[in-house]
Amino acid sequence: MKITLSVIKADIGGYVGHSATHPEVVAEVENYVRKEVDKGTLMDLKMLTCGDDIAMVVTHTHGTDSEIVHRIAWEAFEAGTEVAKKLKLYGAGQDLLTDAFSGNIKGMGPGVAEMEFEERPSEPVIVFFADKTSPSAWNLPLYEMFADPMTTAGLVIDPKMHDGFSFEVLDLFSGKAVKLTTPAELYDLLALIGSVEKYVVKSVYRNFDGEIAATASTQRLSLIAGQYVGKDDPVMIVRAQSGFPAVGEILEPFAKPWIVEGWMRGSHNGPLMPVSFKDARPSRFDGPPRVIAAGFQIAEGKLIGPADLFYDPAFDSARRKAQRMADTLRRQGIFEPHRLPTEEMEYTTLPKILKKLENRFYDIEEHKLDQDKIMEKEDMD
Ligand code: F6R
Ligand code: MG
Ligand code: MG
Repeated sequence: MKITLSVIKADIGGYVGHSATHPEVVAEVENYVRKEVDKGTLMDLKMLTCGDDIAMVVTHTHGTDSEIVHRIAWEAFEAGTEVAKKLKLYGAGQDLLTDAFSGNIKGMGPGVAEMEFEERPSEPVIVFFADKTSPSAWNLPLYEMFADPMTTAGLVIDPKMHDGFSFEVLDLFSGKAVKLTTPAELYDLLALIGSVEKYVVKSVYRNFDGEIAATASTQRLSLIAGQYVGKDDPVMIVRAQSGFPAVGEILEPFAKPWIVEGWMRGSHNGPLMPVSFKDARPSRFDGPPRVIAAGFQIAEGKLIGPADLFYDPAFDSARRKAQRMADTLRRQGIFEPHRLPTEEMEYTTLPKILKKLENRFYDIEEHKLDQDKIMEKEDMD
């Protein structure tokens, strides 16, 4: 039987500020969706939180982009928003960008990662969930998981992986996607996904048989809303083992923290810190950005889990390294490369400041000539 795994997330109010979620809000969202599990509309549900974001992990048989499933998620987030409003949580309902549900939750604020597959005799999957960053945070680890044999030994050793994987890459500005196959087109892939502000990996497929291996949420709130409305704290699903990378190969990129966009005011570069569920509460300078890994075994659509996969001392040195990287970047204050480059500040106050100063800019060479003339005249007098 084919099942669909959907992970749908939103920030519907922070406690305190933008740092974490409130248990009453999470419970309200969960209770709303749980009723649909009890009715049989959905097969199973597990809740995750990371920073100020809530994700529902659901299994069902309605396929991807299902209006039924998206409506349940939307209404559950609306119910949670009511509680967040009552508690006057910060930014209550902030990711619900429209007043009414219109058939598909994509483009309405919440982030969605979904995949449909035939459940294998044993189906291990990992749901990654990050806060204070953007979907392009997955570009580097996805490359390493699925195209770098120094990370994933299975690319060399496992016959099902030896043909490599294909990456569906989305241009966030045009909405167009291109599928690039590795290893043949590896350098084309890297040429694109190194531009993290423009290109994001949407999905990854196994070349051996076309099976889906990974998929991520890729909405960009600022492009939907036309103004700064917070970063798009992403989720991602990755299938593991027997012909997909092993759990340990999937987690390995996170042992070497790298720099992602996000952090304070969504306007800074910072290290992505892998943390256990209980440490997914960014506070220092609203960060640094962090990520959790929730492991599940799926059994006849039931979600067995989550297992807290970064709750492992083997990731302590990555966390320490991330702290050191955070210190180095914080030294820059509001200066680049800690603060994002100018083009990335488009949806912040920077354009307003430039507009205000527009008429006060003058040509420095002409100005100098004028000054010289004034001085010459003063000398003659
Ligand atoms: C970043 C984030 C926070 C806020 C910051 C200012 O994604 O959510 O860093 O941008 O706390 O928030 P406001 O403007 O709501 O006071
Ligand atoms: Mg927030
Ligand atoms: Mg967030």
